[in-house]
Amino acid sequence: MSNDPLLQPFRLKHLTLKNRIMITSHEPAYTEDGMPKARYRAYHQERAKAGVALTMTAGSAVVSRDSAPAFNNILTYKDEVVPYMRDMADACHEHGCAIMIQLTHMGRRTRWDGADWLPTISATRRREPAHRLSPKLAEDWDIERVIADYADAAERMKFAGLDGIELNAYNHLTDQFMSPLTNELDGPYGGATLESRMKFLMDVLGAIRERCGSEFILGVRNVADECLEGGITKQEGIEIATRLRDCGLVDFLDIIRGHIETDAGLTDVIPIQGMPSAPHLDFAGEVRQATKVPVFHAAKISDVSTARHAIVSGKLDMVGLTRPHMADPQIVRKIVEGREEEIRPCVGANYCLDRIYLGADAFCIHNAATGRELEMPQDITKATDKKKVVVVGAGPGGLEAARVAAERGHDVVVMEAAARAGGQILLTSQSTRRKEMISIIDWRLAQCERLGVTIHFNTWAEVDTVTKEDPDVVIIATGGYPDTEILKSGNELVVSTWDIISGDVKPGRNVLVFDEAGDNAGLQAAEVIAKAGAKVEVMTPDRNFAPEVMGMNLVPYMRAMQKLDTTFTVTYRLEAVKRDGNGLIAVIGSDYGGISREVPFDQIVVNAGTVPMAELYFDLKPLSKNLGAVDYLALTAGRPQQMDTNADGSFHLYRIGDAVSSRNTHAAIYDALRLVKDI
Ligand SMILES: Cc1cc2nc3c(=O)[nH]c(=O)nc-3n(C[C@H](O)[C@H](O)[C@H](O)COP(=O)(O)O)c2cc1C
Ligand code: SF4
Repeated sequence: MSNDPLLQPFRLKHLTLKNRIMITSHEPAYTEDGMPKARYRAYHQERAKAGVALTMTAGSAVVSRDSAPAFNNILTYKDEVVPYMRDMADACHEHGCAIMIQLTHMGRRTRWDGADWLPTISATRRREPAHRLSPKLAEDWDIERVIADYADAAERMKFAGLDGIELNAYNHLTDQFMSPLTNELDGPYGGATLESRMKFLMDVLGAIRERCGSEFILGVRNVADECLEGGITKQEGIEIATRLRDCGLVDFLDIIRGHIETDAGLTDVIPIQGMPSAPHLDFAGEVRQATKVPVFHAAKISDVSTARHAIVSGKLDMVGLTRPHMADPQIVRKIVEGREEEIRPCVGANYCLDRIYLGADAFCIHNAATGRELEMPQDITKATDKKKVVVVGAGPGGLEAARVAAERGHDVVVMEAAARAGGQILLTSQSTRRKEMISIIDWRLAQCERLGVTIHFNTWAEVDTVTKEDPDVVIIATGGYPDTEILKSGNELVVSTWDIISGDVKPGRNVLVFDEAGDNAGLQAAEVIAKAGAKVEVMTPDRNFAPEVMGMNLVPYMRAMQKLDTTFTVTYRLEAVKRDGNGLIAVIGSDYGGISREVPFDQIVVNAGTVPMAELYFDLKPLSKNLGAVDYLALTAGRPQQMDTNADGSFHLYRIGDAVSSRNTHAAIYDALRLVKDI
């Protein structure tokens, strides 16, 4: 047996967890009609299969009808959830993985216009900033009803064969009662004392125990320091944890530090790229030390060494690697097999989380199979015939195509015009905060090296360069170049965000960033310019600025730029630019009509996405068997491409990523995976 501390079993009550690695609760928004069906099951099964000891399914699975699912959560107040949960439990148990679920009533942390449109409750009448819901103050009959709902839901989970449950007690209803900031009630559940603030949680725990018995595993994911003036302090948090231990109803605590009612607070609790690693680990260790209760915890413990340290140092009993498991479901298997360096790293891009808060499903920025386990392989199978595959372009899409083709057993050559791999990610990682993005490239380069892919740098591929390789398949992943030709006149007077980010063009003093694409490049350029001491106006024709950047990713930009001379203007469109002596005049209109004004700047930067670099693709098209065509039905159904429309052609030709149209990193990687897995 291995002596790796991470691989030692942990005994939780009667349950033996086979190692110290867990996935903490999270809702990837994969439910259908509020039920965890095949897609949901496959997601957890994939991780169970690869050795994780415990998966805490769902996140915020709701126990009551008046807790509308904020991000497609599981509806545990319905009896029909039981068979789905049972299937998922069986699928995990089959691989020796324990399975639990997080139950909750979200209180004011949801919206009122979802599910049954019922008014919801809290211990405060004040709105939650993130969801803008004005709750009703909970009445006695609400409290009674919700306590019973918790017990019913817990019983359903026990009946489904789960090993246990945890209650969400941070910023959700239980904590809205517990925090002095959000308990305005009088009476037995009111804000007067810690005991009365904790009474709701205690009553819920008591009701669950009564219904599910003393053997059923029951834990609380609780905030032990809200880090907010007037909120639960560290001292009070440890007192809460101690009372939870002493009540004898709780088997483990999963420790949270911070508050999540704003995007900024949420980002400190779940740190994104550029933020410190494992920022709350020591704190969780202090709670464990003070209470001697089994402690679980997750928050950007993204590498195996830090996870190992968390166990060896006695800070945690179970270490949560949640986003890391979205990026690589096979973390435990790779540790067991001594292949730690092959783990696909979580780069903290938070594409996963940001998407769920927009009402979409969670995808990992660089593992396109996650959340698509029913159609996309996490393990690539070998092809029956070995082919020669030429990939042009070593950005994320090109390298993914090369990696997958090599995993299929093909002979792969990559041609890259630049001296380094990375494409647009090289620009992204110019930002110190977003340096972790380069691991998307570095991991693929390492895989390509392991698999024997040949990469030619400083190679400008032309028709001859490609055909000389005598390929069976050619994949064009040449990306795009910045589109600045969007104005009625004066296109030649503007610069692109790439010019600024790369340092090719020095920032001006009074700068307009016209952001039509609304993605990271606009804000990244604006930040570079503002940090150089300039006055910057970021202008967008949209209703919101930077709509593609999304909630948690916006936080570090705002933290950096609100301190500088930056303004944000929405609903105006840059229509033209004129020269005015040494300066420029921006002609500004609006899609809403009726205005035209002229404003002086000394530099105008345009962010409007990319134009495909597809010359080589069009040159190769007539020489190909499929004339570049893709059978979309076959592609989406997971069948090989069989378009052979040109009898004179000698290879199959495809293009992916921004070489097709301006999209994002995930799209480029998904294009590559779903095409090449069947080549
Ligand atoms: C897509 C997604 C959804 C999440 N939803 C929940 C949730 O509903 N409840 C919860 O307690 N935590 C939720 N989390 C937080 C995780 O449990 C975990 O605390 C967080 O991701 C930090 O751990 P990590 O750095 O290992 O990912 C979610 C995380 C992700 C990525
Ligand atoms: S999207 Fe980013 S943060 Fe989320 S799992 Fe993937 S790499 Fe990690």
